Amino acid sequence: MIYMSWSKDYSVDVKELDEQHKKLFGIINTLHQAMLDEKGREIQSTVIAEMVEYANIHFKTEEQYMLQFNFVWYHEHKSEHERYTKKVLELKERLENAGFVLTLEILNFLKDWWEGHILKIDKNYSKLFNEHGLY
Ligand SMILES: [Fe+2]
Repeated sequence: MIYMSWSKDYSVDVKELDEQHKKLFGIINTLHQAMLDEKGREIQSTVIAEMVEYANIHFKTEEQYMLQFNFVWYHEHKSEHERYTKKVLELKERLENAGFVLTLEILNFLKDWWEGHILKIDKNYSKLFNEHGLY
């Protein structure tokens, strides 16, 4: 069974952003599969680094649109992104030490964060973005 599967429920009604969310789900699935295969230790720091980098690109994309369209919750939304980035950077540092291994608890944190963020936070910009012709 796929650990994180994207469905229409997660759509923010903007194709570019949905595609980015799908890719982030995919990266977390890669980590999950590696953990199941007991290969977590070999790939964890590379994949976490990839996730930090890609999440950063994704957050910048959302933030640019929010600024461009004067989204009222821009600062609150950006703070959520910053809080996540800080946590994942700490995680990345810990995973770079050989003694530390990825756990299901960590994966669950990532999964819950993305699901919650998309459903409760991201979806608030959909209407505004659509009104500006962004689909
Ligand atoms: Fe967001």
